[in-house]
Amino acid sequence: MIEAVIFDLDGVIVDTAHYHYIAWKRLASEFGITLTLQHNELLKGVSRMRSLEIVLELGNIQLPEAEKEALADKKNKWFIEYIESIRPEEIFAGVPAMLANCRKQQLKVALASSSKNAPRVIELLGVANLFDTMVDGTMITHSKPDPEIFLLAAKKLNVTPAKCLVFEDAEAGVEAALAAGMKCVGVGSPEQLGKANIIVKQTADFDLNSLDKI
Ligand code: BG6
Ligand code: MG
Repeated sequence: MIEAVIFDLDGVIVDTAHYHYIAWKRLASEFGITLTLQHNELLKGVSRMRSLEIVLELGNIQLPEAEKEALADKKNKWFIEYIESIRPEEIFAGVPAMLANCRKQQLKVALASSSKNAPRVIELLGVANLFDTMVDGTMITHSKPDPEIFLLAAKKLNVTPAKCLVFEDAEAGVEAALAAGMKCVGVGSPEQLGKANIIVKQTADFDLNSLDKI
């Protein structure tokens, strides 16, 4: 029986995954690397530094740690510029109502995002009050596909992992949820998210009345 739902942020609540993509694409182009949407699937859910390493690996580029830190900062500055204009209307259709319905159904609700910018995005969207707890990239040592972030969210909610359902748009996120011993709704395409227990096109397509069927 599911007692808690845990939502990823980028690509599940709002389309900030797109802003991460265009910022990485811009950085990659400075190295003559053409970052495609297919490459971008590998960047979803993983940490900023891991994302950078994947981008550099595409161009067979090796750099010292200090230079990598500077590049990660550069990408993050662009990302922050892009998200500053985000407004509450950009939340995916049906998601605020879905979060409110979770509460009505006595489900506990958490946000679990690898992003260190998650608090700012949630503030801009004005939805902090819809979550019982939030875990972000500043609170973990190992990012997805490691289960740490979801286990921490479950601990903060005081719910055992087996009673948690995770919503994820990243392959690394689906792997993390399953490794945590949780159930997972994949948001996106079956090609990427085939390991999830159920796949929906958009977050709000999931019917909360079907929780017991998972
Ligand atoms: C995840 C995104 O939510 O956060 C990744 O899916 C991103 O693409 C990661 O790299 C880290 O985000 P940030 O904002 O801390 O650079
Ligand atoms: Mg995501």
